[in-house]
Amino acid sequence: MNHKLRRLTLSAMAAAALAAPFAFHMSAQADEPLKIGFLVKMPEQAWFINEQKAATTLGQKENFSVVNIGTPDGEKVLAAIDNLGAQGAKGFVICAPDVRLGPAIQARAKRYNMKFVTVDDQLVDSTGKPLANVPHLGMSAFKIGNQVGQAISDEMKRRGWKPEEVGALRITNYELPTAKLRTDGATQSLLAGGFKKENIFDAPQKTTDDEGGFNASSPVLAQHPNIKKWVVFALNEESVLGGVRATEQLHIPSADVIGVGINGAGEAFAEFQKKEPTGFYGTIAVSSTNHGKDSTENLVEWIQKGKQPPADTQTTGKLMVRNNWQQVRQELGI
Ligand code: GLA
Repeated sequence: MNHKLRRLTLSAMAAAALAAPFAFHMSAQADEPLKIGFLVKMPEQAWFINEQKAATTLGQKENFSVVNIGTPDGEKVLAAIDNLGAQGAKGFVICAPDVRLGPAIQARAKRYNMKFVTVDDQLVDSTGKPLANVPHLGMSAFKIGNQVGQAISDEMKRRGWKPEEVGALRITNYELPTAKLRTDGATQSLLAGGFKKENIFDAPQKTTDDEGGFNASSPVLAQHPNIKKWVVFALNEESVLGGVRATEQLHIPSADVIGVGINGAGEAFAEFQKKEPTGFYGTIAVSSTNHGKDSTENLVEWIQKGKQPPADTQTTGKLMVRNNWQQVRQELGI
C-alpha cells in the first residue's frame, strides 16, 4: 500500500468513526414517534380516565405516544410541562386544576416550544377572559345545564310533586366558568318549569367530586329540615352523587329525591346497576371518549400538519337514566 492511499484510508475511517454516532443520533430523532402529554386535574375521576384512555388508543393507532399525567395543583402542572419538555414532547392536551393558571401554563409551554390545547375547562387570562390562541374543546355548558333542569322538571311532574314543597340543592362552583354555566342553565329551565326561586339553595363546593358534593350539601340539608322533597344538581354527576349520599345520610327516602348529573361515566353506570333505584335519577351523558380523542387529534394535526384547530368546539349531551343507560352508553361510544 503506498503512503498516499494509506493516509486516505485512515482519514476516511476516522471520518466514518466520527460521523457514525452523529448520524445515528440524527436518524434516531427523526424516526422517534411524536410524543405528547395529556394532563388532567382529577386522574381518579372516571370521566378523565376515559379521556386519557381514548387519547392513548388513538396514539396506538396513529403511531404517536401519549404521556398521561395527573396534575391536581398548579405546581404539578408546571412540573409536568418541564418533564414533558425534557422528554422531547411536542405538545399537550390539558384540563387544568384551576383555569386561572392560564398565563403561567402558556409561558411554560413557550419555554419548550410546545403547542397545547385545552379540554373541558377553558383557561382564562388575568382579566378572566378565555385565553387567546389556545384552541378549546368542551361541553356546550349552558345548554347541557338546560337539559338537566328540564329532566328534573319533567320527573317532578311525573311524580306529581307540588313546586312549593320541593327544595333544590344547587351545588355550585362559581370559580369554574363551565360549572357556573351548567348550573345557571339548569336553574333557568327549572324556573321556566315552575320551580320556586326561593326554594333554590346554594351549596358551594370546594372540589368538583363526590366528597366536594357531599360536604357542600350536608349543612344545607340540615338547615332545612322542614323540606321533605329535594332535587339535586351540579356541574357533574360525581358532585350530584355526593349530594344524594348526603340526603341518604339524613334518611330522606330515595323516592323523595331527584338528582340529575352531567358526564355519563363510570360512577353513573355503577349507580344505575344498583338493585334498588337511588335518589340519583339520571345524568346528561356526553362522550368522554370523543373529548379525549378529538382534542388529541386536534393537537396532533396542529403539530404534524400545521393545521390550526377550531378555536372553540362545543359538544352535546343526552339524558341517560336507569332504563336506557346501556343504550346511550353504546350510542356515545363511552
Ligand atoms: C369539568 C368537570 C368534569 C367533567 C368535565 C367535562 O372538568 O369537573 O367532571 O364534567 O368538566 O367537560
